[in-house]
Amino acid sequence: MTVAPYPSARFRRLRRTDALRRLTREARLSPDDLIWPIFVMEGEDAETAVSSMPGVSRLTVDRAVAAASEAAGLGIHAICLFPYVEADRKTELCEEAWSQENLSNRATRAIKEAVPEIAVMTDVALDPYNAHGHDGIVREGVIVNDETVDALTRMALAQADAGADILGPSDMMDGRIGAMRRALEVAGHKDVSIMSYAAKYASAFYGPFRDAVGASGALKGDKKTYQMDPGNGNEALRLVERDLLEGADMVMVKPGMPYLDICRRVKERFGAPTFAYQVSGEYAMIRAAAQNGWIDGERAMLESLLAFKRAGCDGILTYFAPEVARLLGR
Ligand code: PBG
Repeated sequence: MTVAPYPSARFRRLRRTDALRRLTREARLSPDDLIWPIFVMEGEDAETAVSSMPGVSRLTVDRAVAAASEAAGLGIHAICLFPYVEADRKTELCEEAWSQENLSNRATRAIKEAVPEIAVMTDVALDPYNAHGHDGIVREGVIVNDETVDALTRMALAQADAGADILGPSDMMDGRIGAMRRALEVAGHKDVSIMSYAAKYASAFYGPFRDAVGASGALKGDKKTYQMDPGNGNEALRLVERDLLEGADMVMVKPGMPYLDICRRVKERFGAPTFAYQVSGEYAMIRAAAQNGWIDGERAMLESLLAFKRAGCDGILTYFAPEVARLLGR
């Protein structure tokens, strides 16, 4: 990098007008970069606001279809489904997770039928399906790895059968990507892609999400025996490498903003399609501050998302997706 000495170089020359700033901007945000996570619930033509996520509601399947169609119209190419599972469907062994007729699979089928052009991503983890809110099967207080991987694999196959384009294992068990990839091949689902939540941290920023899926009251203890320690960076690279070797097509870093260093390192090291999840707590912070008049919410939203692009991400899962797409489209 060469920099002429002042006054030959005056960096302010290129900041003088909007035209020059746009012309020389390095990172850009577009609707192409966005994956929109939505919450689905049972019922018909209804929605329930999530109080800790102003602007976000759980939607019945018919409304989720309408949301998907709206998203497609805004140029968003992918939507990610999280089910709010009724209490009477939750069991110790989480059998509902691989029912062909569960809420998530019904929503996937309905969306793929009505809006085939949008990619549907699903969540592969057991936390909505058991009473304690853990991502795996719990035996005597321990989240057991291998038995959970078997369950997740059945769940993944049911989601692929329903027509999911992208499976998103968010559970952080060891070995699940390889197990799912092998099972998908055997079942003939050769073109179903996997976006591994490869570097997912045990984070305080998931609080509002757990409200949204009705898991917060339930969660016993924490997820530190399977999600990553926030102090670790090298471990994230090892996990990403492992998941890519096991057959992940894309990888994710989660949460987003506090882990931009990880996004950068992952993209530089592997060059694989790399995504960040701007999680519920990040969303809630921006919304809450904006509602209080403490920050300009629109600008903070755009700036936070542009930062992911600058850090090397190919895309971002964000609850702001439709709002951003609308703004960018103007
Ligand atoms: C659980 C899951 C979580 C999120 C996505 N999948 C929460 C958790 O790990 O407890 C968080 C998303 C968000 O906070 O927006 N499988």
